[in-house]
Amino acid sequence: MINVFQPSVGAEELAAVGEAFDNNWLGYGPKTREFEQDFGEHLGVPAEALLFLNSATSALTLTAKLLEFGPGDEVVVPSVSFVANANTITATGARPVFCDVDPHTLNPSVADIEACLTPRTKAVTILHYGGHPGDVIGIAALCKDRGITLVEDAACAVGSSVDGRACGTFGDIGIWSFDSRKIITTGDGGMIYLRDPELARRAHRLAYHGLDDRGAFAAAFRDPRRWWDQTIHEVGQRLIGNDMTAAIGRVQLRRLPGFIARRRAITATYDRMLDGLPGVRLCPQPPTGHLSTHYFYWLQVDPELRDGIAEDLLNNGVYTTFRYPPLHRVPLYGSDAELPATDAAAANTLLLPLHQALTDAEVQRVARLFCAAIERRTPAVAA
Ligand SMILES: Cc1ncc(COP(=O)(O)O)c(C=O)c1O
Repeated sequence: MINVFQPSVGAEELAAVGEAFDNNWLGYGPKTREFEQDFGEHLGVPAEALLFLNSATSALTLTAKLLEFGPGDEVVVPSVSFVANANTITATGARPVFCDVDPHTLNPSVADIEACLTPRTKAVTILHYGGHPGDVIGIAALCKDRGITLVEDAACAVGSSVDGRACGTFGDIGIWSFDSRKIITTGDGGMIYLRDPELARRAHRLAYHGLDDRGAFAAAFRDPRRWWDQTIHEVGQRLIGNDMTAAIGRVQLRRLPGFIARRRAITATYDRMLDGLPGVRLCPQPPTGHLSTHYFYWLQVDPELRDGIAEDLLNNGVYTTFRYPPLHRVPLYGSDAELPATDAAAANTLLLPLHQALTDAEVQRVARLFCAAIERRTPAVAA
């Protein structure tokens, strides 16, 4: 089978885990801090503003706690987003308010966000769909103007940028995922960025049971002879990452430019081979100044044909998918919100396989199978 997503890990990552074994230090420790340092350099932010966690969902959980979401609060989130966003908001008693997206880029516009703002809006969460940056400059300006916190879910955008600035660093809080389907992976893992140093310090405490973070730990000793004493002011959770997964992350981050270059080349092949197919809209081209990680490659077709095309590809050993099924349509969150562009995109969008391990022959095979499926399912084209 040709997978839609696939990790690229090998001997280098294994050797890095071996180093953690050799150190006899497997938990949150020196390798974690090195990963935070590396990631800070990659983003252009201080390492102190970052915290490596056991998942991006943990980063969202921490965000909800830090921003003190609660009953009566509303948090705007695109309906096309991963359910962890809505779940972590809902778990606090706050209400996710689902906004519409652009029907082609699947990212919300400033107007989509603005339409959902009310006096109860506590935060806005956006993601960069498929690694393609959204209008993060415009949305950040809107949030600033209204005094609303902006959270960027950059789970899919680990190397994406706008005008040279990393996605995830435009808002007040940014989060990244390194789960096994993401471009760089640590098996499971996530990173959180907190612009405000005080919030960052609090995040370190809340991510580990409310204990003062490791850097400040020594200073927390009331008596230098009693290093086991603890300073705990509030209830935290257990969300931190560890040195084994951080060691993998450091290697993956070094390999990231190569991964993105390969993804860009695969995208260009799909664009070339699928261009001009009747009734098919190609994946959008990121505008000038926007760099994408090319995490997804998506096509848009007649909704009547979409599922059949997916079936044809599956029957030929190729997985496709659609992400993310709109949350305003799932039973838990079902609402009568009118989100026409979201509904249209959910019906006509199909993601093709895109990962750096795909060979040229596999990419060409996928493109040819897609062309054949279109031809087979569009009688007018066959005639
Ligand atoms: C956009 C987005 N945000 C958040 C997450 C959650 O990431 P994790 O699996 O690291 O908790 C995912 C995972 O698929 C995602 O795609």
